[in-house]
Amino acid sequence: MKKILIVCLGNICRSPTAEAVLKARANILGVAIVVDSAGTIGYHEGNQPDSRSMAAGEKRGYSFKGITSRKVCSHDFDEFDLILAADEQNFADLKTLCSSHFHYKLALFLQYGEQTQSAIPDPYYGGSDGFEKVLDLIEAASDKILQKI
Ligand code: 4NP
Repeated sequence: MKKILIVCLGNICRSPTAEAVLKARANILGVAIVVDSAGTIGYHEGNQPDSRSMAAGEKRGYSFKGITSRKVCSHDFDEFDLILAADEQNFADLKTLCSSHFHYKLALFLQYGEQTQSAIPDPYYGGSDGFEKVLDLIEAASDKILQKI
């Protein structure tokens, strides 16, 4: 079974949303995969996703049950088959965190999902429309990602 890790900065907004959406779509499409998420910083370690992310996602029917923030660790590069970054900075940070041996596992979430926009913009310091945009972008890419793995 393929294992996908989604990585953003804090692992409380974008990557837990992508985790919830991918799990839901995989369930609907009957694709057996493991999905997890992590952050490049551990500042929110152990916390639930941001309440604004959960409110926006739950309104569209997604579940955030059991998702808590954690920092990406060296073992992740070994364990996961595909590691998808939310934006270019997350991608660059992942590249420096893992040995070049594992670089083939790294990609941008939206690019891997065949979208023209490469970054999922960070909604943390913005208004509620940012959280809707995050969901729109993730939903657009998710089925393509599941078809490709
Ligand atoms: P995320 O958003 O990377 O999508 O989880 C952020 C969460 C927290 C912070 C920044 C972005 N922060 O600065 O604490």
